[in-house]
Amino acid sequence: MEYRNLGDSDLRVSELALGSWLTYGTGVERENSEACVRRAFELGINFIDTANIYGRGAAESFLGEVLGGVDRSSYVLATKLYFPMSSEDKGLSAAQVHKQIDASLERLGTDYVDLYQCHRYDTETPLEETMEALTEVVREGKARYIGFSEWTAEQVRAALAIPGVEKFVSSQPQYSMLRRVPEAEVIPLCRENGIGQIVWSPLAQGVLTGKYRPGQAPPGDSRAASDSMGSFMGELGSEQTLRAVERLRPIAGDLGLTMSQLALAWVLREPGVTSAIVGASRPEQLDDNAGASGVRLDDASLRAIDEALEGAYTTAA
Ligand SMILES: NC(=O)c1ccc[n+]([C@@H]2O[C@H](COP(=O)([O-])OP(=O)(O)OC[C@H]3O[C@@H](n4cnc5c(N)ncnc54)[C@H](OP(=O)(O)O)[C@@H]3O)[C@@H](O)[C@H]2O)c1
Repeated sequence: MEYRNLGDSDLRVSELALGSWLTYGTGVERENSEACVRRAFELGINFIDTANIYGRGAAESFLGEVLGGVDRSSYVLATKLYFPMSSEDKGLSAAQVHKQIDASLERLGTDYVDLYQCHRYDTETPLEETMEALTEVVREGKARYIGFSEWTAEQVRAALAIPGVEKFVSSQPQYSMLRRVPEAEVIPLCRENGIGQIVWSPLAQGVLTGKYRPGQAPPGDSRAASDSMGSFMGELGSEQTLRAVERLRPIAGDLGLTMSQLALAWVLREPGVTSAIVGASRPEQLDDNAGASGVRLDDASLRAIDEALEGAYTTAA
């Protein structure tokens, strides 16, 4: 496993991070969930991403239990706030920032997170209020650094212009071979300002692993076939997309890579990207995915990928 520095922070994180959306504490059974966390550490993954909203606290509680016996300084822990935890508890007001960090720390069984992220932008709260509250959280030692997820370039610029507050070090956009939206504005702006990308759904929720075949029902043990986990896939699972993904198969084969490794090496080729946050329902998936770390794709392969996927990009959130 190779490691990269997260933006201007002193956090040194693995090129793959382990995420917990839809999976741990909720969609994936306990035994496999624990096995995935254990395998992640064995493979050198030192970066774990969660959010208060995942399973409305269930993912954080699960992580708090399994990480209980692990040396806290040996891994980098990131969580987020914004989405509604109840009808009143939502957004990025100062009161919510203070309330939600305490609740997350309690569930995670730790007295600090390494990275506290705004899961979305809150149009209802003045940005200064949010940034000042996040700054207090850092100064109280409850978070080491702050980040955001899916903010526009304009929103990021506005935050960077506020004097006397902590500076963001990370951005968490959806970024994959099938969704390249952040390349236009957010990634260049972040590169100029010492903000690293930790990208979500780099495998397009499993579509880029090649396990979903055009014209065929999804495998029974896959996210697409799951009642609880499959409802967010949207156009990623369309026939047109699956046909385009099939065109990647020979490119991966010629390079001696699995489809998953090709997809992850592709996001990691982007200099603004620090880490690809993968989900995993079984530890073997992490063995496969970890093989992407350190792979450098040559220009001819990158061109072949662009040609294979022409017309298949999504802009959906
Ligand atoms: N900031 C945000 O708004 C936001 C939004 C979404 C996610 N995230 C973060 O990003 C993380 C990753 O998102 P994601 O789970 O959608 O990412 P992903 O890595 O694109 O998809 C993960 C899923 O693909 C399947 N898979 C993974 N590796 C595989 C392999 N080698 N072979 C076959 N199948 C494989 C597994 O599902 P099955 O085995 O069930 O098919 C796994 O759960 C989340 O956990 C979360 O931390 C953030």
